[in-house]
Amino acid sequence: MTDMHAFNARLGAVADRIEETLDRLLSDRVLPGEITRPTRLMGALRYSALGGGKRLRPFLLVESARACGGEEAGALVAGAALELVHCYSLVHDDLPAMDDDDMRRGRPTLHKAFDEATAILAGDGMLTLAFDAMASEIVHPDPAVRIRLVAGLARASGVGGMVGGQALDLEAEGRNSPDGKPLALGEEEIRMLQAMKTGALLAFATEAGAIAAGASEEKRAALLAFGKALGAAFQIADDILDVEADAAAMGKATGKDADRGKATLVGRLGLQGAKAERDRLARVALEALAGFGPEADMLRAALRFTVERGH
Ligand code: IPE
Ligand code: IPE
Ligand code: MG
Ligand code: MG
Ligand code: MG
Repeated sequence: MTDMHAFNARLGAVADRIEETLDRLLSDRVLPGEITRPTRLMGALRYSALGGGKRLRPFLLVESARACGGEEAGALVAGAALELVHCYSLVHDDLPAMDDDDMRRGRPTLHKAFDEATAILAGDGMLTLAFDAMASEIVHPDPAVRIRLVAGLARASGVGGMVGGQALDLEAEGRNSPDGKPLALGEEEIRMLQAMKTGALLAFATEAGAIAAGASEEKRAALLAFGKALGAAFQIADDILDVEADAAAMGKATGKDADRGKATLVGRLGLQGAKAERDRLARVALEALAGFGPEADMLRAALRFTVERGH
């Protein structure tokens, strides 16, 4: 068992290395094939990607790789690539046309600090840069492994993953209904929407760690199952925090999901029902790691952190 102190120290250490990696990827230095990197645009990318966030997705990727005996250097770059997709998803999620939020990670959202067009382009820039980073040689010496990671990131991020989930999320708010009323989604529909909008990137984090480490098929499948259950628990925890936490602790607005007609399991099952479901999913996630020993203790601690977190 890893105590929470050891976990926080390790999460902080990985976050620092991710910060360094992102700082390097987001420098003004022009890469071969590029013409120039516009100063204001790069400022916007750095504003949203640096200096904030729990860095949970890269942590899960690095720790999954480590649990399978993989190298850290490649996993860190793969983790930074995944974090770029996540940061882009937050920038676009906060836009006036989407959730219309003013605060993120304790600071004004990117479209507030800069402007809307820059926020759209910065998101586009982070998304494409993520694939550039994932394709880089440092991630893995074998190009076949890199292609698997690039394709996996595309599937997790795209129309059948995060982007598709965001579309379903807005549809559930009634955005495309003639009367503008939120749809009454069933539990299974909410689960699918959340598995896409949030679960896909978190599940890719753990699976990618296994792929980068050259893990056996059995271990890859186990880590994927762990990531899926953790991802589902993560979004339920986010929805519970929207009700229970204050904006200062979260660094973003809370108490808005119900007003917006967001499809959440809190809305469907009630607060107590959602907590029970979150805890059930945590048990499913833990069970998926049954084939691992102490090498997966940091992942077990990350699961506890996900469920018990206050931000
Ligand atoms: C927020 O994700 C968006 C959701 C998927 C609910 P995180 O809670 O991981 O955000 P950061 O990266 O720590 O800011
Ligand atoms: C966001 O879900 C999921 C993605 C950004 C892909 P939410 O809209 O609930 O996230 P927050 O609460 O704004 O962080
Ligand atoms: Mg949203
Ligand atoms: Mg949002
Ligand atoms: Mg939320």
